[in-house]
This record gives sequence, C-alpha cells and structure tokens, in this order.
Amino acid sequence: MITHVFPTPQAVGTALAATVVDAIVERPSLVLGLPTGRTPLPFYDALRRESVRRAVSWREVRTFNLDEFVGVPPTDAESYRAYMTRELFGPLGLPAAHIGFLDGTAPDLERECERYEEAIRAAGGIDLMILGIGANGHIGFNEPAAGLQARTHRARLEPETRASNAAQFGGDVARVPREALSMGMATICQARAVALMATGAGKAAAVRGMRDGAITAALPASFLQLHPSVTLWLDAAAATS
Ligand code: GLP
Repeated sequence: MITHVFPTPQAVGTALAATVVDAIVERPSLVLGLPTGRTPLPFYDALRRESVRRAVSWREVRTFNLDEFVGVPPTDAESYRAYMTRELFGPLGLPAAHIGFLDGTAPDLERECERYEEAIRAAGGIDLMILGIGANGHIGFNEPAAGLQARTHRARLEPETRASNAAQFGGDVARVPREALSMGMATICQARAVALMATGAGKAAAVRGMRDGAITAALPASFLQLHPSVTLWLDAAAATS
C-alpha cells in the first residue's frame, strides 16, 4: 500500500480531491465509488471547490455509494443519499441517472442488493473506490465478524458503529437503524484502484492493523492487502503507530 501522510484532515481532503479531479480530467466518464461519514467531509468540500476552480465537468462521471441504512427513505435528511445530495450531487449537478445508490426502503432487499451488483457491472465496474474506515476496522458496513460477505448484502450494525453514526440522527443512538445495505468486500476489492482516507488518533489502531496485521475477518479492511492498487490518505494522528 502506498501511504501519504498530511498534517491535517483538511490537507488530506485537499490532496485527494486534486487527485480525483485529475482522474476526471483524464477520464471524463470515470466511475467512482464513494463513502459517507465525518472523515470525507473535508474531501467533499475540497472536491466541490477544485471542480469549480478547474471548471471540470461531472456530466459523464458515474458514482456508486458504498452503503445505506435499512428503512431510511432516500428523501429523508438522515439517509446517506441525502448526505451525498448535500455534499456533492446537488452542488455539482450530477445527473440522477448517473448516481448509483442502494435503497434501504426497497420492498425486496435481497433483490435490491442484486440490482446494485448488476448496475455496477453494467457501468463497467468501479475505476476508483474511495473509502473511510471505522475505528473497529469496518469498511462500508462490512463489520468485524467470523466471516465476511463477498457481495452487496444486508448487514447488522455493531453497537460501536451505531454510536459513531449517531451524529447523522441528531446525536440519538437509539434512532440509528440496526441494519444497512452495503457493498461486500469483493465488490469493493474489484475496483481498479482504492483510495482510503483516515483521520484522527481514533483510527490509528485500525489503520495499523489494516496495513501491517494479518488478513482477518476480525478487521475487514485488512482484506485490502490483497488489492494491487491501494493508496492510504492519512493525517498525522491516524498515521501514528
Ligand atoms: C460509517 C460508514 C463507513 C465510514 C465509517 C467511518 O459507519 N458506513 O463508510 O467509513 O463509518 O465513519 P467516520 O468517517 O464518520 O469515522
């Protein structure tokens, strides 16, 4: 894994945003995999500014988000879909037809997961998968477990993960859904390249385990060691071992 370390979370976001804009300039029909959470906020902020500054068109870019809560409608402000509309899709004017998203209110959730896998395949696969990481080493909602799911699936959230998502639900952990839909580790690892962001001391142990530890379902991100093109974008606190 190639590792870039920056002094602040803002510097991480600025540097990765410049790289993504370069990639769109080179390939206007880039297929991006995208994360939510607190970590990517400086990245999305920089991506909006850099896209405007360099007058880059997102008209042909296609996106697939990693995950979505079960039972939260996409129109609900607490959904990951609404987060993405606020942070990126709205400000950059992405055409709705180019936005791939899981629907946690679909009548048949198994079918919804299959639909998503088919949509990613039909788009030609993901060129660049951008990720955050949970303090427990989860990626998307692939939680530490005895075994991992390869493909997009319905996942149960760990109490720690629900707590870290509480801010999205007005700080009330009881309102965070117990289930979500998430790309699986194989879906993620099939992307041509992966960029993982981690900031803050709370992520340092997960980063160390992911990069230097054994490949284990107890730390799902460790499976990224099997991927030939992973770049880590860290701030100094997350990079401290
Ligand atoms: C959430 C998301 C992940 C995200 C992770 C870290 O549960 N499903 O995609 O990477 O938690 O979130 P944060 O960046 O807020 O620490």
